[in-house]
Amino acid sequence: MKIAVLPGDGIGPEIVAEAVKVLEVLELKFELESALVGGAAYDAHAHPLPESTLALARQSDAILFGAVGDWKYDQLERSLRPEQAILGLRKNLGLFANLRPAVCHAQLVGASSLRPELVAGLDILIVRELTGDIYFGQPRGRRTAIDGQFPGAEEAFDTMRYSRPEIERIAHVAFQAARKRSKKLTSVDKANVLETSQFWRDTLIGVHREYPDVELQHMYVDNAAMQLVKAPKSFDVLVTGNMFGDILSDEAATLTGSIGMLPSASLNSSQQGLYEPSHGSAPDIAGQGLANPLATILCTALMLRFSLNQEAAAQRIEAAVQQVLTQGLRTPDIHSEGTTRVGTAQMGDAVVKALAAQG
Ligand code: NAD
Ligand code: IPM
Ligand code: MN
Repeated sequence: MKIAVLPGDGIGPEIVAEAVKVLEVLELKFELESALVGGAAYDAHAHPLPESTLALARQSDAILFGAVGDWKYDQLERSLRPEQAILGLRKNLGLFANLRPAVCHAQLVGASSLRPELVAGLDILIVRELTGDIYFGQPRGRRTAIDGQFPGAEEAFDTMRYSRPEIERIAHVAFQAARKRSKKLTSVDKANVLETSQFWRDTLIGVHREYPDVELQHMYVDNAAMQLVKAPKSFDVLVTGNMFGDILSDEAATLTGSIGMLPSASLNSSQQGLYEPSHGSAPDIAGQGLANPLATILCTALMLRFSLNQEAAAQRIEAAVQQVLTQGLRTPDIHSEGTTRVGTAQMGDAVVKALAAQG
Protein backbone atom coordinates (compact mmCIF):
# COMPACT_ATOMS: atom_id res chain seq x y z
CA MET A 1 0.00 0.00 0.00
CA LYS A 2 1.31 3.37 -0.96
CA ILE A 3 0.27 6.81 0.29
CA ALA A 4 1.22 9.92 -1.67
CA VAL A 5 1.90 12.84 0.66
CA LEU A 6 1.32 16.24 -0.95
CA PRO A 7 1.77 19.01 1.64
CA GLY A 8 1.38 22.01 -0.70
CA ASP A 9 1.50 25.61 0.46
CA GLY A 10 0.87 27.87 3.44
CA ILE A 11 -0.08 25.83 6.50
CA GLY A 12 -0.14 22.68 4.31
CA PRO A 13 3.36 21.44 5.27
CA GLU A 14 2.77 22.22 8.97
CA ILE A 15 -0.48 20.29 9.29
CA VAL A 16 0.58 17.40 7.05
CA ALA A 17 3.72 16.90 9.17
CA GLU A 18 1.47 16.27 12.18
CA ALA A 19 -0.73 13.84 10.24
CA VAL A 20 2.36 11.95 9.08
CA LYS A 21 3.53 11.64 12.71
CA VAL A 22 0.19 10.04 13.51
CA LEU A 23 0.40 7.60 10.58
CA GLU A 24 3.93 6.63 11.52
CA VAL A 25 3.17 5.86 15.16
CA LEU A 26 0.53 3.35 14.02
CA GLU A 27 3.32 1.25 12.48
CA LEU A 28 1.12 0.00 9.66
CA LYS A 29 2.71 -1.39 6.51
CA PHE A 30 2.49 1.66 4.27
CA GLU A 31 5.00 3.33 2.10
CA LEU A 32 4.79 7.13 2.24
CA GLU A 33 6.14 9.16 -0.65
CA SER A 34 6.08 12.97 -0.78
CA ALA A 35 5.93 15.33 -3.72
CA LEU A 36 5.55 19.03 -4.36
CA VAL A 37 2.17 20.44 -5.35
CA GLY A 38 0.63 23.88 -5.79
CA GLY A 39 2.71 27.02 -5.43
CA ALA A 40 5.62 24.99 -4.03
CA ALA A 41 5.67 22.94 -7.24
CA TYR A 42 5.31 26.06 -9.37
CA ASP A 43 8.36 27.58 -7.68
CA ALA A 44 10.46 24.44 -8.27
CA HIS A 45 9.12 23.16 -11.62
CA ALA A 46 7.15 26.09 -13.11
CA HIS A 47 3.93 24.03 -12.87
CA PRO A 48 1.48 23.55 -9.95
CA LEU A 49 0.86 19.89 -10.83
CA PRO A 50 4.05 18.47 -12.36
CA GLU A 51 3.80 15.20 -14.30
CA SER A 52 5.83 13.43 -11.62
CA THR A 53 3.39 14.48 -8.88
CA LEU A 54 0.39 13.39 -10.93
CA ALA A 55 2.11 10.07 -11.69
CA LEU A 56 2.78 9.47 -7.99
CA ALA A 57 -0.85 10.25 -7.18
CA ARG A 58 -2.06 7.83 -9.86
CA GLN A 59 0.11 4.97 -8.53
CA SER A 60 -0.92 5.48 -4.91
CA ASP A 61 -3.76 3.82 -3.04
CA ALA A 62 -4.48 7.07 -1.26
CA ILE A 63 -3.33 10.68 -1.27
CA LEU A 64 -2.87 12.85 1.78
CA PHE A 65 -3.18 16.45 0.64
CA GLY A 66 -2.54 19.59 2.71
CA ALA A 67 -3.68 22.74 0.94
CA VAL A 68 -2.58 24.93 -1.95
CA GLY A 69 -2.65 28.62 -2.73
CA ASP A 70 -1.12 31.88 -1.74
CA TRP A 71 -1.87 35.49 -2.56
CA LYS A 72 1.52 35.84 -4.23
CA TYR A 73 0.35 33.63 -7.11
CA ASP A 74 -2.91 35.52 -7.71
CA GLN A 75 -1.52 37.36 -10.75
CA LEU A 76 -0.38 34.21 -12.58
CA GLU A 77 -2.37 33.06 -15.58
CA ARG A 78 -5.11 30.74 -14.35
CA SER A 79 -3.60 27.49 -15.65
CA LEU A 80 -0.48 28.05 -13.53
CA ARG A 81 -2.17 29.02 -10.27
CA PRO A 82 -1.74 26.67 -7.28
CA GLU A 83 -5.48 25.90 -7.12
CA GLN A 84 -5.19 24.21 -10.54
CA ALA A 85 -3.25 21.43 -8.82
CA ILE A 86 -6.14 20.29 -6.67
CA LEU A 87 -8.62 20.76 -9.52
CA GLY A 88 -6.30 18.76 -11.82
CA LEU A 89 -5.90 15.94 -9.30
CA ARG A 90 -9.66 15.71 -8.82
CA LYS A 91 -10.31 15.68 -12.56
CA ASN A 92 -7.46 13.37 -13.60
CA LEU A 93 -8.19 10.79 -10.92
CA GLY A 94 -11.97 11.03 -11.39
CA LEU A 95 -12.53 11.95 -7.73
CA PHE A 96 -16.16 12.91 -8.22
CA ALA A 97 -17.50 12.21 -4.73
CA ASN A 98 -16.48 14.64 -2.03
CA LEU A 99 -17.65 13.70 1.46
CA ARG A 100 -17.49 16.58 3.91
CA PRO A 101 -18.78 15.60 7.33
CA ALA A 102 -19.57 18.42 9.75
CA VAL A 103 -19.52 17.07 13.26
CA CYS A 104 -19.64 19.25 16.36
CA HIS A 105 -17.52 17.53 18.97
CA ALA A 106 -19.18 17.79 22.39
CA GLN A 107 -16.07 19.47 23.82
CA LEU A 108 -16.31 22.28 21.23
CA VAL A 109 -19.97 23.21 21.54
CA GLY A 110 -18.92 26.55 23.05
CA ALA A 111 -16.54 27.32 20.17
CA SER A 112 -19.32 27.52 17.59
CA SER A 113 -20.62 30.84 16.36
CA LEU A 114 -24.12 29.49 17.06
CA ARG A 115 -25.81 29.00 20.41
CA PRO A 116 -24.83 25.68 22.03
CA GLU A 117 -28.32 24.18 21.80
CA LEU A 118 -28.32 24.65 18.02
CA VAL A 119 -25.07 22.72 17.48
CA ALA A 120 -24.83 20.23 20.37
CA GLY A 121 -24.84 16.79 18.76
CA LEU A 122 -24.61 18.20 15.22
CA ASP A 123 -23.53 15.50 12.77
CA ILE A 124 -24.28 16.17 9.12
CA LEU A 125 -22.68 15.00 5.91
CA ILE A 126 -22.35 17.11 2.79
CA VAL A 127 -21.92 15.06 -0.37
CA ARG A 128 -20.46 17.44 -2.93
CA GLU A 129 -20.08 16.56 -6.62
CA LEU A 130 -16.48 17.42 -7.37
CA THR A 131 -15.57 17.05 -11.05
CA GLY A 132 -18.37 18.84 -12.89
CA ASP A 133 -20.51 21.99 -12.78
CA ILE A 134 -19.34 25.53 -13.49
CA TYR A 135 -15.88 24.55 -12.14
CA PHE A 136 -15.08 22.56 -15.28
CA GLY A 137 -17.76 23.44 -17.85
CA GLN A 138 -16.64 24.66 -21.26
CA PRO A 139 -16.69 27.12 -22.91
CA ARG A 140 -15.27 29.73 -20.59
CA GLY A 141 -13.23 32.81 -21.18
CA ARG A 142 -13.28 36.47 -22.09
CA ARG A 143 -14.60 38.12 -25.23
CA THR A 144 -16.32 41.14 -26.65
CA ALA A 145 -20.06 40.93 -26.05
CA ILE A 146 -22.15 40.64 -29.18
CA ASP A 147 -25.46 40.92 -27.35
CA GLY A 148 -26.75 41.49 -23.81
CA GLN A 149 -27.07 44.84 -22.11
CA PHE A 150 -23.71 46.16 -23.27
CA PRO A 151 -22.86 44.93 -26.79
CA GLY A 152 -19.24 45.67 -27.67
CA ALA A 153 -18.14 45.65 -24.03
CA GLU A 154 -15.55 43.23 -22.65
CA GLU A 155 -17.20 40.30 -20.83
CA ALA A 156 -16.29 37.03 -19.14
CA PHE A 157 -18.27 33.79 -19.03
CA ASP A 158 -18.24 30.31 -17.47
CA THR A 159 -20.51 27.38 -18.25
CA MET A 160 -22.55 25.52 -15.66
CA ARG A 161 -23.22 22.04 -16.97
CA TYR A 162 -24.04 18.55 -15.77
CA SER A 163 -24.67 15.34 -17.68
CA ARG A 164 -27.17 12.77 -16.44
CA PRO A 165 -24.54 10.08 -15.59
CA GLU A 166 -22.53 12.62 -13.58
CA ILE A 167 -25.59 13.42 -11.48
CA GLU A 168 -26.67 9.79 -11.19
CA ARG A 169 -23.35 8.56 -9.80
CA ILE A 170 -23.16 11.23 -7.09
CA ALA A 171 -26.85 10.63 -6.30
CA HIS A 172 -26.08 6.93 -5.67
CA VAL A 173 -23.24 7.86 -3.31
CA ALA A 174 -25.57 10.19 -1.40
CA PHE A 175 -28.52 7.78 -1.20
CA GLN A 176 -26.21 5.00 -0.01
CA ALA A 177 -24.72 7.27 2.64
CA ALA A 178 -28.20 8.32 3.76
CA ARG A 179 -29.28 4.69 3.92
CA LYS A 180 -26.50 4.02 6.46
CA ARG A 181 -27.48 7.04 8.55
CA SER A 182 -30.95 8.49 9.26
CA LYS A 183 -32.38 7.67 5.79
CA LYS A 184 -33.00 11.35 5.11
CA LEU A 185 -31.44 13.10 2.11
CA THR A 186 -31.71 16.76 1.17
CA SER A 187 -30.79 17.67 -2.39
CA VAL A 188 -29.79 21.31 -2.78
CA ASP A 189 -30.25 23.15 -6.06
CA LYS A 190 -31.53 26.33 -7.66
CA ALA A 191 -34.16 24.69 -9.84
CA ASN A 192 -36.36 27.79 -9.77
CA VAL A 193 -33.78 29.58 -11.93
CA LEU A 194 -31.21 27.21 -13.46
CA GLU A 195 -31.77 24.53 -16.10
CA THR A 196 -28.83 22.47 -14.76
CA SER A 197 -30.56 22.51 -11.37
CA GLN A 198 -33.93 21.40 -12.76
CA PHE A 199 -32.10 18.58 -14.53
CA TRP A 200 -30.31 17.74 -11.27
CA ARG A 201 -33.64 17.61 -9.42
CA ASP A 202 -35.31 15.46 -12.12
CA THR A 203 -32.35 13.07 -12.08
CA LEU A 204 -32.39 12.79 -8.28
CA ILE A 205 -36.10 11.94 -8.42
CA GLY A 206 -35.27 9.17 -10.92
CA VAL A 207 -32.50 7.66 -8.79
CA HIS A 208 -34.72 7.91 -5.71
CA ARG A 209 -36.89 5.09 -7.16
CA GLU A 210 -34.05 2.70 -6.30
CA TYR A 211 -34.00 3.92 -2.67
CA PRO A 212 -37.65 3.96 -1.56
CA ASP A 213 -36.54 3.56 2.07
CA VAL A 214 -34.75 6.96 1.98
CA GLU A 215 -36.75 10.16 2.31
CA LEU A 216 -35.74 12.72 -0.35
CA GLN A 217 -36.30 16.43 0.15
CA HIS A 218 -35.39 19.20 -2.32
CA MET A 219 -34.30 22.62 -1.16
CA TYR A 220 -33.17 25.77 -2.94
CA VAL A 221 -29.62 26.73 -2.12
CA ASP A 222 -30.47 30.14 -0.67
CA ASN A 223 -32.89 28.55 1.77
CA ALA A 224 -30.37 25.77 2.55
CA ALA A 225 -27.76 28.40 3.43
CA MET A 226 -30.26 29.97 5.80
CA GLN A 227 -31.48 26.70 7.34
CA LEU A 228 -27.86 25.68 8.01
CA VAL A 229 -27.50 28.55 10.46
CA LYS A 230 -31.11 28.53 11.65
CA ALA A 231 -31.60 24.82 12.36
CA PRO A 232 -28.53 22.86 11.27
CA LYS A 233 -29.68 19.72 13.06
CA SER A 234 -32.71 19.51 10.77
CA PHE A 235 -30.31 18.08 8.15
CA ASP A 236 -28.63 14.71 7.95
CA VAL A 237 -27.14 14.09 4.49
CA LEU A 238 -27.05 16.88 1.90
CA VAL A 239 -26.16 16.32 -1.74
CA THR A 240 -25.35 19.14 -4.10
CA GLY A 241 -23.25 20.26 -7.05
CA ASN A 242 -19.68 21.41 -7.03
CA MET A 243 -20.23 25.15 -6.60
CA PHE A 244 -23.05 25.08 -4.04
CA GLY A 245 -21.21 22.32 -2.17
CA ASP A 246 -18.06 24.42 -1.94
CA ILE A 247 -19.94 27.28 -0.31
CA LEU A 248 -22.26 25.27 1.95
CA SER A 249 -19.44 23.07 3.24
CA ASP A 250 -17.47 26.07 4.53
CA GLU A 251 -20.66 27.31 6.18
CA ALA A 252 -21.34 23.94 7.78
CA ALA A 253 -17.70 23.64 8.82
CA THR A 254 -17.64 26.75 10.90
CA LEU A 255 -20.79 25.72 12.80
CA THR A 256 -18.72 23.00 14.41
CA GLY A 257 -16.31 25.46 16.03
CA SER A 258 -13.63 25.78 13.38
CA ILE A 259 -12.96 24.86 9.79
CA GLY A 260 -9.66 23.57 11.19
CA MET A 261 -11.53 20.54 12.59
CA LEU A 262 -13.06 19.14 9.42
CA PRO A 263 -11.58 16.43 7.21
CA SER A 264 -12.83 15.51 3.77
CA ALA A 265 -12.59 12.55 1.43
CA SER A 266 -12.67 12.74 -2.36
CA LEU A 267 -13.33 9.32 -3.87
CA ASN A 268 -13.47 7.83 -7.34
CA SER A 269 -15.31 4.74 -8.47
CA SER A 270 -12.49 2.42 -7.34
CA GLN A 271 -12.39 3.90 -3.79
CA GLN A 272 -9.03 5.47 -4.48
CA GLY A 273 -9.18 8.61 -2.43
CA LEU A 274 -7.65 11.99 -1.88
CA TYR A 275 -7.93 13.18 1.71
CA GLU A 276 -7.65 16.85 2.53
CA PRO A 277 -8.89 19.17 5.22
CA SER A 278 -11.94 21.19 4.17
CA HIS A 279 -9.98 24.41 4.69
CA GLY A 280 -7.34 26.10 2.56
CA SER A 281 -3.72 27.13 2.96
CA ALA A 282 -4.54 29.90 5.46
CA PRO A 283 -1.72 32.23 4.35
CA ASP A 284 -2.70 34.62 7.16
CA ILE A 285 -1.39 32.22 9.82
CA ALA A 286 1.14 30.15 7.83
CA GLY A 287 4.61 29.53 9.23
CA GLN A 288 3.67 30.49 12.79
CA GLY A 289 2.77 27.13 14.26
CA LEU A 290 -0.79 28.33 14.90
CA ALA A 291 -2.77 26.12 12.52
CA ASN A 292 -5.08 23.44 13.83
CA PRO A 293 -3.81 20.09 12.50
CA LEU A 294 -6.84 18.08 13.67
CA ALA A 295 -8.71 18.26 10.34
CA THR A 296 -5.70 16.75 8.60
CA ILE A 297 -5.16 14.19 11.34
CA LEU A 298 -8.83 13.21 11.02
CA CYS A 299 -8.18 12.88 7.26
CA THR A 300 -5.81 10.02 8.01
CA ALA A 301 -8.69 8.27 9.80
CA LEU A 302 -10.96 8.70 6.78
CA MET A 303 -8.13 7.43 4.55
CA LEU A 304 -7.65 4.31 6.65
CA ARG A 305 -11.41 3.72 6.62
CA PHE A 306 -12.31 4.36 2.98
CA SER A 307 -9.18 3.54 0.97
CA LEU A 308 -6.95 1.31 3.10
CA ASN A 309 -9.48 -0.98 4.75
CA GLN A 310 -8.18 -0.34 8.27
CA GLU A 311 -11.29 0.54 10.26
CA ALA A 312 -9.73 -0.29 13.63
CA ALA A 313 -6.82 2.11 13.06
CA ALA A 314 -9.27 4.80 11.89
CA GLN A 315 -11.22 4.48 15.12
CA ARG A 316 -8.03 4.65 17.18
CA ILE A 317 -7.16 8.01 15.60
CA GLU A 318 -10.66 9.38 16.13
CA ALA A 319 -10.56 8.28 19.78
CA ALA A 320 -7.15 9.92 20.25
CA VAL A 321 -8.50 13.21 18.86
CA GLN A 322 -11.45 13.00 21.25
CA GLN A 323 -9.01 12.45 24.06
CA VAL A 324 -6.88 15.54 23.39
CA LEU A 325 -10.03 17.64 23.15
CA THR A 326 -11.21 16.22 26.47
CA GLN A 327 -7.81 17.06 27.94
CA GLY A 328 -8.64 20.67 27.06
CA LEU A 329 -5.91 21.21 24.46
CA ARG A 330 -6.86 23.87 21.90
CA THR A 331 -5.14 25.59 19.00
CA PRO A 332 -5.98 29.32 18.80
CA ASP A 333 -8.91 28.83 16.41
CA ILE A 334 -10.83 26.82 19.04
CA HIS A 335 -9.23 28.23 22.18
CA SER A 336 -11.45 29.71 24.87
CA GLU A 337 -11.20 30.53 28.55
CA GLY A 338 -10.48 27.53 30.73
CA THR A 339 -8.74 25.53 27.99
CA THR A 340 -5.02 25.12 27.26
CA ARG A 341 -3.71 26.95 24.23
CA VAL A 342 -1.25 24.89 22.17
CA GLY A 343 0.50 25.18 18.81
CA THR A 344 0.33 22.96 15.74
CA ALA A 345 3.16 20.59 16.70
CA GLN A 346 2.09 20.35 20.35
CA MET A 347 -1.37 19.32 19.22
CA GLY A 348 0.08 16.66 16.90
CA ASP A 349 2.35 15.40 19.67
CA ALA A 350 -0.60 15.14 22.03
CA VAL A 351 -2.51 12.98 19.54
CA VAL A 352 0.55 10.76 19.09
CA LYS A 353 0.84 10.43 22.85
CA ALA A 354 -2.85 9.57 23.19
CA LEU A 355 -2.44 6.90 20.51
CA ALA A 356 0.58 5.39 22.21
CA ALA A 357 -1.29 5.34 25.53
CA GLN A 358 -4.07 3.24 23.97
CA GLY A 359 -1.61 0.34 24.16
P1 NAD B 1 -8.72 29.30 4.13
O1 NAD B 1 -9.56 28.12 4.43
O2 NAD B 1 -7.30 29.05 3.79
O3 NAD B 1 -8.79 30.30 5.38
C1 NAD B 1 -10.00 30.87 5.86
C2 NAD B 1 -9.83 31.27 7.33
O4 NAD B 1 -9.80 30.08 8.13
C3 NAD B 1 -8.53 32.01 7.62
O5 NAD B 1 -8.78 32.98 8.60
C4 NAD B 1 -7.60 30.93 8.16
O6 NAD B 1 -6.62 31.41 9.03
C5 NAD B 1 -8.59 30.01 8.87
N1 NAD B 1 -8.12 28.62 8.87
C6 NAD B 1 -8.13 27.77 7.82
N2 NAD B 1 -7.61 26.59 8.16
C7 NAD B 1 -7.25 26.68 9.46
C8 NAD B 1 -6.63 25.79 10.39
N3 NAD B 1 -6.28 24.52 10.07
N4 NAD B 1 -6.41 26.23 11.64
C9 NAD B 1 -6.77 27.46 12.00
N5 NAD B 1 -7.35 28.37 11.18
C10 NAD B 1 -7.57 27.98 9.92
O7 NAD B 1 -9.47 30.10 2.96
P2 NAD B 1 -9.04 31.42 2.15
O8 NAD B 1 -8.35 32.38 3.06
O9 NAD B 1 -10.24 31.83 1.42
O10 NAD B 1 -8.01 30.90 1.06
C11 NAD B 1 -6.59 30.94 1.23
C12 NAD B 1 -5.94 30.18 0.08
O11 NAD B 1 -6.27 28.81 0.18
C13 NAD B 1 -6.40 30.62 -1.31
O12 NAD B 1 -5.29 30.61 -2.17
C14 NAD B 1 -7.42 29.55 -1.69
O13 NAD B 1 -7.56 29.40 -3.08
C15 NAD B 1 -6.80 28.35 -1.06
N6 NAD B 1 -7.71 27.24 -0.77
C16 NAD B 1 -7.22 26.00 -1.02
C17 NAD B 1 -7.99 24.90 -0.72
C18 NAD B 1 -7.43 23.55 -1.05
O14 NAD B 1 -6.24 23.41 -1.22
N7 NAD B 1 -8.26 22.53 -1.13
C19 NAD B 1 -9.24 25.07 -0.10
C20 NAD B 1 -9.69 26.36 0.17
C21 NAD B 1 -8.92 27.46 -0.16
C1 IPM C 1 -12.08 23.54 -1.64
C2 IPM C 1 -11.41 24.75 -2.25
C3 IPM C 1 -11.19 24.51 -3.73
C4 IPM C 1 -12.57 24.41 -4.36
C5 IPM C 1 -10.34 25.57 -4.45
C6 IPM C 1 -9.02 25.80 -3.78
C7 IPM C 1 -10.13 25.20 -5.89
O1 IPM C 1 -12.12 25.90 -1.98
O2 IPM C 1 -11.52 22.43 -1.71
O3 IPM C 1 -13.16 23.70 -1.07
O4 IPM C 1 -13.19 25.43 -4.69
O5 IPM C 1 -13.02 23.29 -4.55
MN1 MN D 1 -13.80 25.60 -0.60
